[in-house]
Amino acid sequence: LPVLLSGVVKGPALLPIIQADTPAQAVNIAKALSEGGIGSVEVVLRTREALAGITAIRSALPQLLVGAGTILSASDATAAKNAGAQFLVSPASTPTLLEAMIDCGLPFAPGVATPSEIAMAFEYGLTEVKFFPAHLSGGIEMLKALSSIFQQVRFCPTGGIGQQNLADFLALPNVFVAGGSWLTPAAMVKAGQWQQISQLAATASAIANK
Ligand code: 3PG
Repeated sequence: LPVLLSGVVKGPALLPIIQADTPAQAVNIAKALSEGGIGSVEVVLRTREALAGITAIRSALPQLLVGAGTILSASDATAAKNAGAQFLVSPASTPTLLEAMIDCGLPFAPGVATPSEIAMAFEYGLTEVKFFPAHLSGGIEMLKALSSIFQQVRFCPTGGIGQQNLADFLALPNVFVAGGSWLTPAAMVKAGQWQQISQLAATASAIANK
């Protein structure tokens, strides 16, 4: 099995999403996050140039850990690895997807929202998963309920996390990192408001480092 994602995450226990239209924009977002204290980022494969964005960030900001998100197929996993992704995140879990990500050899977090999906991942030997969509799937209360059943499993919640609930998610013993898009609002990205993004990141980093 690959190395655990929790073992490679750099900086505060935060995994901000980067959704960029161009590699240059991806680098600008990553730089702003890095200046706000972020050490790890997830570039989501939801734009045409997402893979090129991963490559560009790796070369411009070698201090950052750069992963690929929204992995939905074996070919996504391979393409992300070839582009330089250092870890993989998926919103879903299927046997095909789990086997592809294991074969890739990179640390990864497959998406789960139910006990059966967690049990399936566990059958593959996986103990770190993404809990998505976290808020809509029961949020903090659900993670507490899951902790007594799946005592060895740790979660990366994403979906509905923001400054208002970040501390509560990170306080859970079965949460190893929290992810989401609240540090990189689309409107700020569009307007090139890198200072504001750095400020959001600095606020979140301070909460996570407490
Ligand atoms: C993800 O891919 O993890 C989600 O888009 C994050 O959800 P959020 O936008 O509510 O943070």
